[in-house]
Amino acid sequence: MVLINGFLNLVAPPTTFLTLLFFLPPYAVFKYFFSVFRSFFAEYLAGNVVLITGASSGIGEHLAYEYASHGACLALAARRVDRLEQVAQAARELGAPDVIIIAADVSKIDDCKRMVDHTVGHFGRLDHLVNNAGIGSVCMFEEVDDMEAFRSLMETNFWGMVYTTRFAVPHLRNSQGRVVVISSGASWFPMPRSSFYNASNLGITCLSDISPASY
Ligand SMILES: NC(=O)c1ccc[n+]([C@@H]2O[C@H](COP(=O)([O-])OP(=O)(O)OC[C@H]3O[C@@H](n4cnc5c(N)ncnc54)[C@H](OP(=O)(O)O)[C@@H]3O)[C@@H](O)[C@H]2O)c1
Repeated sequence: MVLINGFLNLVAPPTTFLTLLFFLPPYAVFKYFFSVFRSFFAEYLAGNVVLITGASSGIGEHLAYEYASHGACLALAARRVDRLEQVAQAARELGAPDVIIIAADVSKIDDCKRMVDHTVGHFGRLDHLVNNAGIGSVCMFEEVDDMEAFRSLMETNFWGMVYTTRFAVPHLRNSQGRVVVISSGASWFPMPRSSFYNASNLGITCLSDISPASY
């Protein structure tokens, strides 16, 4: 192990540096042209109804702003209501015509049903479900004594998405809508000290094989 670590300490930094040096410039150029190309086929989102889980911070919050700037109506869900109110206000200022907030814990099946019902009850439809709510964990698997402590991670990251998607499917079928899943590279490149997080994301990726034809 010491030998492997020594080898990695020697080889990994220059390899990473050289890879970034040669990879980043062409990748940046590719990304620029790809975004220009995609703008010709951008989906028209004005008036669409979007439910975002975990919208009180991070990626979910910024997705809310992105949808808002395209004129989508938003249902923002998470546990911290005070944060949701701030995000909702900012989303309105960015152009969202109507924003509601829903206090919900996605690890609870009843909350997931209520989230979807409340959204459809208010707006009359659902076009996009963004499954974003999630938590991380870093620890050595063999050092874990209390396995029960990791139930909440699977219940949030995996089951939270399963419950919400299942309740949303009939409405998404009606609108020919979309399920958006925020997963992680950990689903295909498992990271050390993240066994449970890796497992939850692998499960999400397997389930994200949901297309309008196969809800
Ligand atoms: N950041 C990264 O580098 C990265 C990389 C790959 C994938 N991801 C994934 O992206 C997603 C968002 O990550 P982030 O970095 O934006 O994290 P974050 O800033 O911590 O946001 C997580 C969001 O999920 C919500 N949430 C957590 N547990 C919840 C629960 N039980 N019920 C309802 N909402 C819950 C939180 O809101 P409340 O606390 O208010 O409930 C918060 O809004 C996660 O699924 C994460 O696995 C992140």
